Amino acid sequence: MRNTSIPQTDLTPSAICLGSSHFGNGIAPADAYALLDMYVTCGGNFIDTAAVYANWLPGEKNSSEKTIGRWLARTGKREKLFIGTKGAHPDLATMHISRMSPREIVDDLNSSLGNLQTDWIDLYWLHRDDPARPVAEIIDTLHAQVVAGKIRYFGCSNWRVDRIAEAQTYAGAKGITGFVANQMRWSLAAMDPKTESDPTTVAMDGESYAYHRQSGLAAIPYSSQAGGYFQKMAERREVRPAQQKSYGSPGNARRLARVQQLAQETGLSVSQIVLAYLTSQLFPTIPIVGCRTVAQVEESMQAGDVQLTNAQVVWLAGESA
Ligand SMILES: NC(=O)c1ccc[n+]([C@@H]2O[C@H](COP(=O)([O-])OP(=O)(O)OC[C@H]3O[C@@H](n4cnc5c(N)ncnc54)[C@H](OP(=O)(O)O)[C@@H]3O)[C@@H](O)[C@H]2O)c1
Repeated sequence: MRNTSIPQTDLTPSAICLGSSHFGNGIAPADAYALLDMYVTCGGNFIDTAAVYANWLPGEKNSSEKTIGRWLARTGKREKLFIGTKGAHPDLATMHISRMSPREIVDDLNSSLGNLQTDWIDLYWLHRDDPARPVAEIIDTLHAQVVAGKIRYFGCSNWRVDRIAEAQTYAGAKGITGFVANQMRWSLAAMDPKTESDPTTVAMDGESYAYHRQSGLAAIPYSSQAGGYFQKMAERREVRPAQQKSYGSPGNARRLARVQQLAQETGLSVSQIVLAYLTSQLFPTIPIVGCRTVAQVEESMQAGDVQLTNAQVVWLAGESA
């Protein structure tokens, strides 16, 4: 498993990050432990969670962070891993009311430290943005947490590129490290934006892509396998109607044909090509995979050593719709 350096940091996580949005409630703790164990066995060392994960499911609050915290305590692996978690997410019942005051950011962070049973977070993410709030206040709040030793670095998730640029300019002028990574929805299978039910999420688009190319800011995309859409289509397995609606475009059918052609020519699996499309970008890109079974972890992790050429990456994406 290759490691990837995140610019402006001493973080060198594995090429594939493990997501955990259902840990504890949707995925029972014992099953989540098995996924984590397999991920580490396959050479993974970068775990993505959030305070809000699995709170939409019946069961324990903050169950993803707490499950990971218990697993870290059981295994004693904290020092060997990079942990990213996110806060400042709106309450799920009031998604239109942002929670990004300095107090809310700091309270969320303190709560996450307790849930994860750790003294520090390697990469702390703002889960959403509040464009009405000045970037200066947000960056100053996060930088103070770095100085306090609670977080090593911070990043943004679901931020528009103009706001990211504004925040980075502010941090640069102050001589401090701003966002070291950006977490957005991005996969080789393009999603029909009309099917996104949460308007507060942000996907990779041409403008953000150009920004990453020019700035070298690391991208840590979620839904990187489009819920396994290409894998399932290639194996003629059942695809959920909602997934078909989101990804069943003619453009994706052509991309799948190219994935299958490349798979035949190279002997790589569909999973390896889908994820290597991201890990082989011209700026540091570490896809987050959301696996439900140990076999899926094993399969997705096989992409960690694959390097596609830039010509292959460009050819795979083809047209943009
Ligand atoms: N920052 C944000 O706002 C945000 C938003 C969403 C997610 N995330 C993070 O990103 C993580 C991943 O997101 P995601 O769950 O949407 O990612 P994903 O990897 O695109 O989708 C996960 C689904 O893909 C299928 N799958 C996984 N590995 C597979 C394989 N090797 N072969 C075939 N199918 C496979 C499984 O579907 P089946 O269950 O149908 O088998 C699995 O449930 C989350 O856990 C979370 O940590 C962040």
